[in-house]
Amino acid sequence: MKSQNKTILVTGGHSGLGMYCSKQLASHNYNLILAGRSPEKMEELAKELRSSHNLKVHLIKIDTSSFASVRAGVSECKNLLKNGEVDSLNGIICNAGVRFNRKHTYTEDGYESTYATNYLGHALLIELLIDQIAKNGRIVFTASGTHDPDSADGKIMGIADNATAVELANTGKNGSKPIALGKMYATSKLDMIQYSYELDRKLKKANIPITSIAFDPGSTPGTGFLRNMPKPVAWLAGTSLIQWVIKRNGITTSTADFSGESLARLAIEPAYATGSGKYFQCNVGKLSERRSSKLSYDENRAARLWKDTQELIHIKAEETILSL
Ligand SMILES: NC(=O)c1ccc[n+]([C@@H]2O[C@H](COP(=O)([O-])OP(=O)(O)OC[C@H]3O[C@@H](n4cnc5c(N)ncnc54)[C@H](OP(=O)(O)O)[C@@H]3O)[C@@H](O)[C@H]2O)c1
Repeated sequence: MKSQNKTILVTGGHSGLGMYCSKQLASHNYNLILAGRSPEKMEELAKELRSSHNLKVHLIKIDTSSFASVRAGVSECKNLLKNGEVDSLNGIICNAGVRFNRKHTYTEDGYESTYATNYLGHALLIELLIDQIAKNGRIVFTASGTHDPDSADGKIMGIADNATAVELANTGKNGSKPIALGKMYATSKLDMIQYSYELDRKLKKANIPITSIAFDPGSTPGTGFLRNMPKPVAWLAGTSLIQWVIKRNGITTSTADFSGESLARLAIEPAYATGSGKYFQCNVGKLSERRSSKLSYDENRAARLWKDTQELIHIKAEETILSL
């Protein structure tokens, strides 16, 4: 199948490093489904890509923090496939993500917003769409080096917590002390990585030829990632002095274009077809396979995470081929 018949869905594919990823996919003649909560912002990039490349770019409204929105987006995607507007879904890139600051908030489903946006919404998306992904398709999860307490990145936001998914989703409810937001971010990414590994094991066991890859873009200034932080912090993070300090302290450094393009490469390059169950990281202009945190390889924790996740996202056995 030629790449112009292939389509990749990218959450948050219209901005930040997701935008560079979408542009890279488009330059390789992949059609796109941009999935995000802001149709106007997505339409801007879609217009640009449709006119610069001869491509189909579809937009699907998905707010990853809302299960109803994810379900509605999945229905739209299935319709596009059914009526032939999308020939073949060859990949899903779970890239949307957020780091909240100051105050804990809860989604309409009743879960802590960082955990729901970064992790639970994407898990639901994958469980509902996995049977639509073409043979040898790929799923790439944008995680973060902050998940690893033994790395310099893992010390900047707050050490990832070893709480269960149920505890994380419900943190701070009923008057209990919530897990700090920096920790919630790092742990949402830990759970995303661990989910990608467990997904890989389940896919292999069931002989389903789909690749599941975890990715850390590295610390990447110039995106909207720090938008919820105080303005001086967001500004300082992008200065060359702070970038120098970051590098000196062993924290990963990258650029939005390099990390976005690397994300696309993981989804389409033949070299990464064997990347299932692995973790790749961008640092100083290189994309390399790395070890993720010790905890991320704990298969007992992964099994518990899987079970808790399926309960938290209210997935029914008949809705997914992943109720294995
Ligand atoms: N930048 C870094 O240093 C860094 C480092 C490690 C990992 N990451 C990860 O890389 C990914 C991309 O981040 P970025 O740096 O490119 O930041 P960004 O510019 O803020 O991009 C985040 C994207 O996620 C989307 N998004 C946020 N909440 C959403 C929701 N509820 N529903 C749907 N989409 C939502 C945003 O859409 P809107 O335009 O609608 O807000 C935006 O497209 C994230 O997962 C982030 O955690 C970033």
